[in-house]
Amino acid sequence: MQNKPVVIVLDKNENSRNIISSYLEDLDLIEGIQLFEDYSKGLEFVKQVKDNAIVILDITEVNSDEFIEEIRLHISKLIITSADYSTNTIVKALRMGAKEFLPKPVIKNELVRVIEAIAQIEYSEISSQSKIISVYSNKGGIGKTSIAINLAKELEKVTKCKVALVDLNLQLGDVSTFLNLNPTFDVSYVIKNFINKDEDIFIKAFERYKDSSLYILSDPTYIEQAESISPQDIIKLFEALKKVFSYIVIDMSSNIDENSLKILDLSDLVLFTTIVNIPAIRNAQRCLTLFKSRHYPKDKVKVIVNRYMDGDEIKIEDVENTLDEKIYWKIPNNYFTIMEAINRGVCVSEVNLNSNIGNSFRDLAIKISDDIIEKTVMQYRV
Ligand SMILES: Nc1ncnc2c1ncn2[C@@H]1O[C@H](COP(=O)(O)OP(=O)(O)OP(=O)(O)O)[C@@H](O)[C@H]1O
Ligand SMILES: [Mg+2]
Repeated sequence: MQNKPVVIVLDKNENSRNIISSYLEDLDLIEGIQLFEDYSKGLEFVKQVKDNAIVILDITEVNSDEFIEEIRLHISKLIITSADYSTNTIVKALRMGAKEFLPKPVIKNELVRVIEAIAQIEYSEISSQSKIISVYSNKGGIGKTSIAINLAKELEKVTKCKVALVDLNLQLGDVSTFLNLNPTFDVSYVIKNFINKDEDIFIKAFERYKDSSLYILSDPTYIEQAESISPQDIIKLFEALKKVFSYIVIDMSSNIDENSLKILDLSDLVLFTTIVNIPAIRNAQRCLTLFKSRHYPKDKVKVIVNRYMDGDEIKIEDVENTLDEKIYWKIPNNYFTIMEAINRGVCVSEVNLNSNIGNSFRDLAIKISDDIIEKTVMQYRV
């Protein structure tokens, strides 16, 4: 068993450091408490004890982003406190990897509850309750694979959480081609052989993308293997994925078959992708009607316009009126950058981080993770 963790408090306010210390001094589950007014000294201490510590970081008076990023490199058990507890601040703290946010002044019972939960590692993080995000369109060639890959990569960068990218375009998957991967295992092999294994073995079946927290599972090599996958298998696969990954991004085929419907039904978020032309919008209309008939919860389906161009003859308002849906996100048309990424077998951000399309994928990842966290925070507050 791991040693008890030490609690490290980084807080500029002496009074509040002492209060936190007094709240925790009798707690049996922890090894001791270290208080720091000087954040650089606190960080040095964190580096020494690494993950056998719980850090309570106050961000009321500090410019926090870079500091949180740095501290998260060394520690996963982070609690953030602040006198500013607007939804924005809470969402940002959780997105940056805090396990919990506590408003100041900190309440003893709340603090003890959180520390106990984290120390016992039974904690279900509100920032990383696993979410399945599927990228779908009932029309081919619309950009599903491009969006799934780049969204997954940006989610991993923005949230620092473990992200899975799963190619469930079972017969015509492109993820491994787009990213120039030669995977050892594929989704059908994993369903047959890895699903009931422990987390550390299960994760080895995935291709880890360049030492990042993005893990990729490719489509089956042979069509017969794809045909043997059933909706029941998809349920089992998702259950296994949810135990390991915070975000699971699914690239899909444009078929509407039993497997696609199972994937869509089980998704927390469906990014329904279209482009601005009449045939695509007609198809979108039909598909959104189908979703309505399946009674998906409000906010589950978001419409994304890909290959968006400012001067398009059909305006976004026209699309919204026709579909009777707000457009959640627009991804600009940038054939050159996307093609260079595909040709080099990398993500868009590796070709040109600051291109319009690179920015768009990053901001989409931020919006999605913020929306998910905000929804959870709201549920907590009710
Ligand atoms: N935002 C964009 N700007 C310019 N070109 C794009 C954009 N998104 C995708 N494309 C191009 O469109 C083509 C189809 O993209 P992609 O393969 O991602 O679509 P798909 O919906 O996954 O297709 P399929 O139905 O075959 O799986 C690719 O050549 C890609 O480079
Ligand atoms: Mg595709």
